[in-house]
Amino acid sequence: MRVGIDALALAVPPLALELRTLAEARGVPPAKFVDGIGVERMAIAPLDEDTVTLAARAGAAALAQAGISASEIGYLVVGTETAVDHSKPVASYVQGLLGIGAACRVYETKHACFGATAGVLGALEWIRAGGGKRPRIALVIAADIARYGLQTPGEPTQGGAGVALILREDPRLVEIDATIGHYASDVHDFWRPLPSKDALVDGAFSVECYLNAVTGAYRNFQEEREETERFSVLALDRLVYHVPYGKMAIKAHRQLLAEEGLDAAAADATFAEKVGPSLTLPRRIGNSYTGSLYAALGSLLATDPAPLDGARLGLFSYGSGSAAAFFTGTVVAGAQKRVAGLGDALERQRILAIDEYEALFHARNDLDTRPYAAPEGPATSPRYLGVDGGKRRYG
Ligand code: CAA
Repeated sequence: MRVGIDALALAVPPLALELRTLAEARGVPPAKFVDGIGVERMAIAPLDEDTVTLAARAGAAALAQAGISASEIGYLVVGTETAVDHSKPVASYVQGLLGIGAACRVYETKHACFGATAGVLGALEWIRAGGGKRPRIALVIAADIARYGLQTPGEPTQGGAGVALILREDPRLVEIDATIGHYASDVHDFWRPLPSKDALVDGAFSVECYLNAVTGAYRNFQEEREETERFSVLALDRLVYHVPYGKMAIKAHRQLLAEEGLDAAAADATFAEKVGPSLTLPRRIGNSYTGSLYAALGSLLATDPAPLDGARLGLFSYGSGSAAAFFTGTVVAGAQKRVAGLGDALERQRILAIDEYEALFHARNDLDTRPYAAPEGPATSPRYLGVDGGKRRYG
């Protein structure tokens, strides 16, 4: 059975901060953020945008791209590490906003940035299991607003986005293979205690944990394969990594290719072709946490100048704490055309001044208790309107 990604859509907040602007304000050489960390801009959410609106906007766009109706979805998962409620899942709000029917498995997944991948793998298993009368079609959405404290080392690695995937049999974008390499370890590299809006991170340790997970997941992938001949990652045409910031993908690529005996220089020689296009959009979004791997995959399909029909892909997902997976897939003929305009919304973002960014950052602290205010005009896409009688309202 051929299963995989049939549609991939992106929702980005309409605001952004240039990393050069942040560097100047923090007294840091801009080259450190732009080249050393590898990010040009980070997407910034306005006060009527939250994880729910990003998820719903991405989900609506994925349904439109696939040309299917909400009633055909039998499995709806939202992976997030920036949920809006301890109990009611973001997926439930999305179900209501998109009009997805009652005959659907609806839930939220959390494991830091791995949450959406947990949803993707569960949905693919559900499709492969078959059964039932209707075709098994899943909507898996990754949505997050990445946030560290002002003036912390993590500050230049914020961002946010929603990335929605339609998964089904005979997919039109990427077929995903059944073998999955897993790695998980109980570490404190990045976490967000319940009272905190900002993530806490042990930066250098988080990089080390990510790299250990690359090796662990890839070795487990080798062990899990049923084929007798050894698999080599060198045979893959493109590699797509979880991208908290661009430089991390360089480190991940070196780590993975070291498994095949390549040194850093030899790995770097392949980077521009095999990884480069997957970073075009993430460099302008920043970290989108659960969405990061799938934004990178979308970036590859939308911006790689080479024809990718039939290209073999390796994908690596990492979530702090930690959990990771390495898996492979094949680009379906015509996929690039289907997602060609994926980054268009980034061209329309309004670029913030540093004081606007800081004011928004502080104002988000009170977002979850902001009193409901009726919308001023008709909304063309879901907006967060505040809390009404203890309940979040969207319009
Ligand atoms: N010009 C060019 N490059 C420069 C420079 C300059 N003037 N000054 C410094 N650099 C380079 C450094 O050499 C370094 O490059 P290498 O890593 O290749 O050595 C790079 O810029 C960053 O410099 P530092 O390591 O000194 O940066 P930092 O201490 O300020 O912290 C960070 C960087 C650890 C990534 C920090 O931003 C952070 O904690 N971010 C959040 C955590 C994170 O994203 N971790 C990633 C793994 S965990 C994960 O993936 C899950 C997730 O999504 C959070």
